Amino acid sequence: MTAPLRTGDPIVVNVALGARAYDIVIGRNLLASLGARIAALRPGCKVAIVTDETVARHHLAASEAALKAAGVACEAVTVPAGESSKSFRMLERVCDALLRARIERGDLVVALGGGVVGDLAGFAAVVTRRGVDYVQVPTSLLAQVDSSVGGKTAINSSHGKNLVGAFYQPVLVVADTALLDTLPPREFRAGYAEVAKYGLLGDSAFFAWLEANWRDVFAGGPAREHAIAVSCRAKAAIVARDERETGDRMLLNLGHTFGHAFEAAAGFSDRLLHGEAVALGMSLAFEFSARRGLLPKDDAARAIAHLAAAGLPTHVSDVPGGWPGVDGMMDLIAQDKKVSRGRLTFILARGIGRAFVERDVDAADVRAFMAEKLSAR
Ligand code: GLY
Repeated sequence: MTAPLRTGDPIVVNVALGARAYDIVIGRNLLASLGARIAALRPGCKVAIVTDETVARHHLAASEAALKAAGVACEAVTVPAGESSKSFRMLERVCDALLRARIERGDLVVALGGGVVGDLAGFAAVVTRRGVDYVQVPTSLLAQVDSSVGGKTAINSSHGKNLVGAFYQPVLVVADTALLDTLPPREFRAGYAEVAKYGLLGDSAFFAWLEANWRDVFAGGPAREHAIAVSCRAKAAIVARDERETGDRMLLNLGHTFGHAFEAAAGFSDRLLHGEAVALGMSLAFEFSARRGLLPKDDAARAIAHLAAAGLPTHVSDVPGGWPGVDGMMDLIAQDKKVSRGRLTFILARGIGRAFVERDVDAADVRAFMAEKLSAR
């Protein structure tokens, strides 16, 4: 956490990836400048906006108006809202629509939406004409601080989530923080788990700042922009070091191994949103780290207290409904990160802001910990 609070001008964070470098522009009411930014980036290009029905209701007209005002021709492709749109069927529909709209290699796809739209539109862009560039316009907090940055694109397969995809970086990310004003509070809270994650994994000063200022982040204004910018800076630095997740990028999975298991057990449904699962998973990862003597119990308690104060689930009993037994949960954990000779890879922590990749966790230890957590309901 280095930058002071700023007001006024947008904040620009560069993702330093050489020939594939791009800017993340963060600020309030940026959508109106989308056309001018695209016209400057790619003069004379056409645009296809890929969005979902919910986001279209709120933001499509303003996006089209911004493009038209800058003389950028555009067409819209709208898919149903929700995870089920990350499918082969919807990919085919979007690719067909891009081809019907005569989107060429020099044109642009704009992904206007949350993580689902970003993943689907990005993957449609990479496979259409062997690669059309795309711009991310994330409309959820989770997408603004995580999924729109770093070039992970994917659809789901019957074998699991995000198993068919590509690393394909956008050419620009425009994060208009005013778009978050229309988010349901529960969805904003879930996205906040990913903001807190950056403090917990690598920036204790940012975490302390969040403890003091999270209410202002929720309220909007400069604190929200600042939190998003710090999060994007942290992610950009990690992606620049390890674009294809062979090392440091795994740190971004803090809370995801426990979290994915609960998310899968809940059927990837509204019962437990992704960010909520990450909050629960980070709480368990900190508690598990404390149990292994890696960090003081007070640090784990502090991490959990902050997530709970923000209204996020931190204990298994915070999520209503039943869970599979420990065997079922261990199967789900093993599916998420392969077990090799009874050893698991986990992101653990030596303190607030000091996460690390531990590739040698005994599955029996995880099993005992999970059994205790599941029975403490
Ligand atoms: N969401 C984790 C990553 O982009 O690597």
